[in-house]
Amino acid sequence: MAQTATLTIDGKTYELPIIVGTEGEKAIDITKLRDQTGLITYDPGFGNTGSCKSAITFIDGEKGILRYRGIPVEAFETNPNFVEVAYLLIFGHLPNAQEKLNFSERLTKNELLNESMKHHFEGFPVTAPPMAILSAMINTLSCYHHQFFELEDNDAFMEMAARLISKIRTIAAFSYRRSLGLPFIYPDPKLRYCANFLHMMFSLPYEQYYIEPEIEDAMNLLLILHADHEQNCSTSTVRIVESSEANCFASCAAGVCALWGRLHGGANEKVLEMLEKIHQGGITPEECIKMAKDKNSSFRLMGFGHRVYKNYDPRAKIIKTMVDKVLTKRKINDPLINIARRIEELALADSYFIDRKLYPNVDFYSGIMLRALGIPTNMFTVIFAMGRLPGWIAQWREQHMDSSMRIARPRQIYIGNNEMSFVPLEQR
Ligand code: ACO
Repeated sequence: MAQTATLTIDGKTYELPIIVGTEGEKAIDITKLRDQTGLITYDPGFGNTGSCKSAITFIDGEKGILRYRGIPVEAFETNPNFVEVAYLLIFGHLPNAQEKLNFSERLTKNELLNESMKHHFEGFPVTAPPMAILSAMINTLSCYHHQFFELEDNDAFMEMAARLISKIRTIAAFSYRRSLGLPFIYPDPKLRYCANFLHMMFSLPYEQYYIEPEIEDAMNLLLILHADHEQNCSTSTVRIVESSEANCFASCAAGVCALWGRLHGGANEKVLEMLEKIHQGGITPEECIKMAKDKNSSFRLMGFGHRVYKNYDPRAKIIKTMVDKVLTKRKINDPLINIARRIEELALADSYFIDRKLYPNVDFYSGIMLRALGIPTNMFTVIFAMGRLPGWIAQWREQHMDSSMRIARPRQIYIGNNEMSFVPLEQR
């Protein structure tokens, strides 16, 4: 028999249905609450609110579990392939050989930007934050592809997804080249997804950048670890924008803006700034921990804590291992890694962090990883966005196909003035 929850207000009881997910998670269905009781729920930050039903990603924050379409994220550590994971998230299954080939061909076919888009890059100052450029350019794509605004047909949807996933990499690399005043390097159709990105970032005219297989694997794995994370801030933004029936380009451009903030994707940049500051002697790891605990300071230990994970973030665990491999392979002796390890050690032994279940999140080691790959700090969040894009597209599609979804429109508890009269200017 279906379970219900009983709510009593002013002596009157209401039965509310309980929904159970495939992993046993339960939610009280309050969709009829206001109609029946006149009351709404209050949940700033949505920490207790399920905004949708989704079959894409499962997280158990207490146990530190992350699965894409049921597959534990650790399964992608050997032979990581971002394109396969993108396909899995968006279309619900791992592609077979033919599906993978077709999708890869679509990515290659779509790798160039319309030549007129190059002039847009020139309109930005060289100091423009790459996240601003990325969001603007993804939105600009919608000016070129009106045919993808209505997407009921599967083939058209796949073409649109491939277009976005392929072009974001070109936009990201071009925004970097623009910031350095370097010529744009066109994508090479012979290269795979991540190798092609590294080529566009680092090759020079007549001087091809050599891509070591281990570095290509590391880039693939990094993107995979960022590919989806259920209803986080940027993904919820994408869904909210879609709920007004906005197109996928506009929705993902909004997702980029949400990701930009320092409490979300922008945290990896801030982690590096913090480690650099410690390295340059501005502050010791011990002082850093002390400041993070000080309730009179707005300082937070960047790369620590998570709304959902109350255990070690499984992505941080994987990146931590990968960092060691890449630093060894590239023979890099990065002093920041030792500082990061020291901070982690101090925090994990400190009752403030233990009591609040604050562990390293994906951003704690990803900055060091990106640095080892030669990626400059201001591009870190852009790489995160590249990785997260398949997740946004998958979530956009899931919602687009769900006929039960309504426009997102939260309510509020008004705490302003009661009705008052208008005072003419001369009497104020
Ligand atoms: N440093 C110090 N204290 C922290 C930290 C931190 N990094 N994170 C949480 N806390 C404390 C809070 O001050 C609060 O303490 P209190 O109970 O004494 O008031 C308690 O832990 C709970 O924190 P909340 O802010 O309620 O946690 P919330 O779920 O709202 O925030 C967030 C999660 C934003 C990730 C937070 O942990 C944070 O700011 N971390 C640093 C930024 C960061 O690394 N962001 C990346 C997140 S991963 C991602 O987006 C990809």
